[in-house]
Amino acid sequence: MRILVVGSGGREHALIEALAQSDQVSGLYAAPGNPGTAQVGTNVGVSATDLDGLADFAQAESIDLTLVGPERPLVNGIVDRFEEEGLSIVGPTQEAARLEGSKAFADQFMARHDIPTASFRVFDAAGYADASAYLDDAGAPIVVKADGLAGGKGSFVCSTTEEAHDALDRIMQERAFGAAGDRVVIEEKMDGEEVSVLALTDGSHYVLLPPSQDHKPIGEGGTGPNTGGMGAFAPAPIVDASLLTEICRDIVEPTLGGMQEEGTPYHGVLYCGLMITDEGPKVVEYNCRLGDPEAQVVLPLVESDLVDIFRDLVDGDLQGGSLRTSGGAAACVVLASDGYPIEYETGVEITGIGAAEALEDVSVIHAGTRLTPEDRLVTDGGRVLGMTALASDLPSALDRAYEGVDCVHFEGNTYRRDIGEKGLAHLSEG
Ligand code: AMP
Ligand code: GLY
Repeated sequence: MRILVVGSGGREHALIEALAQSDQVSGLYAAPGNPGTAQVGTNVGVSATDLDGLADFAQAESIDLTLVGPERPLVNGIVDRFEEEGLSIVGPTQEAARLEGSKAFADQFMARHDIPTASFRVFDAAGYADASAYLDDAGAPIVVKADGLAGGKGSFVCSTTEEAHDALDRIMQERAFGAAGDRVVIEEKMDGEEVSVLALTDGSHYVLLPPSQDHKPIGEGGTGPNTGGMGAFAPAPIVDASLLTEICRDIVEPTLGGMQEEGTPYHGVLYCGLMITDEGPKVVEYNCRLGDPEAQVVLPLVESDLVDIFRDLVDGDLQGGSLRTSGGAAACVVLASDGYPIEYETGVEITGIGAAEALEDVSVIHAGTRLTPEDRLVTDGGRVLGMTALASDLPSALDRAYEGVDCVHFEGNTYRRDIGEKGLAHLSEG
């Protein structure tokens, strides 16, 4: 099987590494990929948002299956485009991808299907004055969000009404997120721990990947601005068997059932970002793709052949139930550029990757890196590397990942030292 992975981050490098474990794979391509994907497969010079270029490549190279890392091509309709040409691809149609592409659509969908989430109000472009009055009425804390895709930067968790007004102005008046701010969603702030539950689904059947936890804020203890994710671990001890049953019954199944009922069955990866509140699990957001860095920790735990699963998914023939997973745990610590997620330099030389890779069960996942014409590895983004380790349990996986972190050097290397602490706290509660 010849497989194309669309995207260029850590998630895509982790996906290619996982696919390479299958003996059914005869060719692996990444578009556009990064220096990590180039070690496992072949990078193709087509951007992840060039849908025509990707379809042409898949036709010309007889690609049997395409997997899409980032949300933008999915929300822009890559699946519809590929299917029109008879090309096999894993992911939701453009209509179904609205679960991620429009927060107003997602909230209204959940309301229609009684799926637990925050209470919310939606305001359109003409509704600025109403939105502003609503903020005064509702008070703080409160969450203000741009409706559309904003690269993870369009949601503001506000602890004062003043902050909430600033967020509203940024979205609706300054148009900081362009058309993504045509509508704004104002939500009740939920409290609890966040977990990521990812299902692979053919629309009716699904299999769950191990539940994981990300660390979104840049700073230790969950302080500072939100990032794409500074580290992750799986499985998440907070999700015990009874909580997982509740999540499937109250969230995953009604979501798939609701999408079917509305005539837009959901195929691909359904990422449920959940808050475990005192009242039970509630949806914070849906994503229509694998998480980054969640993919780095959930995929290495899967022992089932992922190619079989993705093929069955595309054929509408997925057998529900659970995936075969290793009994161990995985951890990923993200190394970022100084100043991320706001402003940072690129082109900074990276050393020590070989020493990290020599450690047992440690993999260095590339995210924002590039090779110079002289073959030097340099930083090329906010999130640079994901130091990922597998071990028999979470404490050892974390120790090993941090051993790997100690091997790598680049100026401005910024990482959180508390990845996994929330998981360790649940383990010690027993
Ligand atoms: P989103 O852009 O919807 O993915 O939200 C980004 C982050 O903001 C989430 O991962 C949460 O940490 C936080 N967040 C979003 N919505 C809420 C909410 N209603 N209550 C509490 N935190 C939220
Ligand atoms: N790690 C969060 C996300 O992928 O959206």
